[in-house]
This record gives sequence, structure tokens and C-alpha cells, in this order.
Amino acid sequence: ISIEYCIKDKPNGIAEAFILGEKFIDEKNVALILGDNIFFGNNFSLSLKSSLDFNEGAQLFAHHVVDPERFGVIDFDKEYNALSIEEKPANPKSNYAVTGLYFYDSKVCGYAKSLKPSERNELEITDLNKIYLNNKKLKVNLLGRGHAWLDSGTHDSLLETSNFVKTIQSSQDVLVGSPEEAAFHNGWIGKEELENIISKNSKNQYSQMLKKILT
Ligand code: G1P
Repeated sequence: ISIEYCIKDKPNGIAEAFILGEKFIDEKNVALILGDNIFFGNNFSLSLKSSLDFNEGAQLFAHHVVDPERFGVIDFDKEYNALSIEEKPANPKSNYAVTGLYFYDSKVCGYAKSLKPSERNELEITDLNKIYLNNKKLKVNLLGRGHAWLDSGTHDSLLETSNFVKTIQSSQDVLVGSPEEAAFHNGWIGKEELENIISKNSKNQYSQMLKKILT
């Protein structure tokens, strides 16, 4: 694959991605994922594929957490329609955090340009989501108990995430988040290409795990 990217020089807020990255989006629907968010769950990629099938609006994923004040928090009615979204509220209205995986239509770039910096001087992704909520174009998908979501944006949570990945990998004898494995299972690379990758670093643990996938 060939990847083009743009570097964000200053921490001006997540929503700035849609101003800096506008030229990559080009009237298409777009996904945003935060680099410190880890998702793990059975058939997660399948449920994402169905979320990608939308024409307009925005799609979010919410997960139940014990410390909602660390996140964007979403409040629902009884049918799980979103009522409000608040960024790091001191008194959260629910325990549902907005995860760092978002799908938007191409209007997102125009909306991002209309945002004003928040008190912490950032263009807030939550303010962007509020625009979709107010326009009744926001769909929220709940990630249930079969899904793990980890925000590894603090030192403690990075260590917790590492332990989680280590535990799953060791006890289930699988790799978590391996691009090579995903490419092989989706038929994007063949047996020979995978063997080639393994042979370049054949002695390390990661390659040993990849070998198991081959067999
Ligand atoms: C950001 C968003 C927040 C979201 C969180 C998910 O928080 O602002 O709404 O719930 O990512 O990881 P931040 O990384 O700025 O603390």
C-alpha cells in the first residue's frame, strides 16, 4: 500500500484534522481514528464494514466506562438515541464514552472550519459531533460487552493496554493488531510474500507468531 500523510505540527485539537486533511477527503465519506485508541472484539471489522455503508451524517461508537469524565460523554434516551454529547464533563450524564473512531460525510470539512477553539484552546471533536447531533444526522453504535476499547493516552493506561494485549496474545496464541496477519487473511498478500516478511526477521518473537499463521 502507499500512504500519503500530513503532519499536524501543533496540538490544536482533533477536529483540526479535517481542515489540514481536507485535500485528502475530496467529497468522500471519511474515517478518523485516534492513534492512542485500541479496539478489540469478535467480528469488529464486519460491524465496521456495515457502518461504512452510509451516505450522509456521522457515525460514532460508544463504550461503557467507569471514568466518563476523561472522555466525550454521550447521553441516550430509552431507545438509545443520542440526547447530548459533552466533552470531559465534571458531572457526566451517563457512563458512555465516545470512542476515538468516527465516520463522517464530506460536510465534515466545512463544519470543522466553522468551529471556535474551546476553553482548552482546541478545536473539539465533540463540538463537531454536536453539529451532526443538532442536525439529527448522528448515529451512535454501542460497543457491547464482547468488545474491548482502551484509550492508552496516559502512562497508566498505556501500561494497562500493553498488559491487555500481552495477556490475549499469550493466552490465546494469537496476534493482536497485526497488519501482516490482516493482509494475509484478506488475501492482500500471499503465502510467498508473508514468508518473505518472516525471513527478514526470522528470529524475533513477532516473526515466530507470524509463522504460526502460515501453518
Ligand atoms: C478525545 C476526545 C474525546 C474522546 C476521546 C477518546 O479525548 O476529545 O471526546 O472520548 O478522545 O479517546 P482526548 O484524547 O483529547 O483526551
